[in-house]
Amino acid sequence: MLSLCQFGYESLLERELVLAGLVVAEKGPGWVRASQELPAKATAPAVAGLAEPPAVAEMIFPQLTLLAPRELKGESVNALAAQLADYFFESLRGERIEAPWPCVSQMVPEVVGLGRRASAVEKAFAELLKKKLSRIAKLAVPDLPRGGGAARGLFVFFADFGRIFVSREAWLGGQRRMADDDAAPSRSYLKVEEAYIVLGREPQAGETVVDLGAAPGGWSYSAAKRGATVVAIDNGPLKGGAFGNPLITHRLEDAFKFQPAPGEVYDWLFCDLVEEPHHVMQNIVTPWLAQGWCRHFVINFKFGHVDSLGLLAEVRAPDSPFMRHATNFRIRHLYHDREEFTLVGDTRL
Ligand SMILES: C[S@@+](CC[C@H](N)C(=O)[O-])C[C@H]1O[C@@H](n2cnc3c(N)ncnc32)[C@H](O)[C@@H]1O
Repeated sequence: MLSLCQFGYESLLERELVLAGLVVAEKGPGWVRASQELPAKATAPAVAGLAEPPAVAEMIFPQLTLLAPRELKGESVNALAAQLADYFFESLRGERIEAPWPCVSQMVPEVVGLGRRASAVEKAFAELLKKKLSRIAKLAVPDLPRGGGAARGLFVFFADFGRIFVSREAWLGGQRRMADDDAAPSRSYLKVEEAYIVLGREPQAGETVVDLGAAPGGWSYSAAKRGATVVAIDNGPLKGGAFGNPLITHRLEDAFKFQPAPGEVYDWLFCDLVEEPHHVMQNIVTPWLAQGWCRHFVINFKFGHVDSLGLLAEVRAPDSPFMRHATNFRIRHLYHDREEFTLVGDTRL
């Protein structure tokens, strides 16, 4: 399998794969190729079987994993497009495509010029596809499906100018680049918007949200935009679309001291504090989840000063508040995360 991660996080992805028992074969900017060691007599399935989730299903760093990828090499745009077309046509045997299907190519934007090369190959491939199978070409969607899980389509990764990996099956972590909003007061806004997709749920009109560490207000603004009412806790000022927003009540308080009124349950807990994550886990996550003060949560842990995979192990330990009190629990290094990961879930009430 070939897993893609945010540029600069390859070593953490590699460690995560190794911890899960995978054997790493190679890595490059934004990607790691690994395989599952098979028991002595077992043979690899001809096609990546998705009867059960792959080993990467619950990992945090992979954003997209190509399953059973084929490596193709070509010196020119046309040579790569022709090989891609041959691979795709051959893989279609016995398959009928009747519905829209993802036809997605990815590359690391940090490698200068690779985006142009990928666009040129995509265009040449699209021509070949249109000529041979115009009905299937019309159903191609050049975007990943929303949400996480298994997907079937055509997934292409440009490792370099003359080297691509391609697969028909992929596993999606759910991360994706989000559209900005001019009224959003911070780029943090993009994180919470992306977190809703990973969770598969977002605040609704009339729901209540407490936002701990809210300033300048990106997360609060995101919830208010959907018609939820927000209590924003932070000693810092709210800005942009969060400032003076009639759905947002700003309270200049310490997030560690704030508690709901007796019997009050918030629909959502948002927590994006620049604080030591163990401190947040012990003093915010534990009471909020154990006491059932919220129904759903989006929490961001900054791992800048702690070992991210060590922290992850603690989050997943049987006695952690997440394991004890949460369901539908997911952790991802989001497309919009930096030295941090985001935890989403529902509280067992
Ligand atoms: C990364 S920013 C939050 C950004 C916010 N989610 C947004 O979308 O704009 C972290 C915030 O946590 C706040 N903070 C840190 N410790 C706090 C505490 N003990 N109580 C309240 N706020 C705190 C900081 O003042 C800062 O505004």
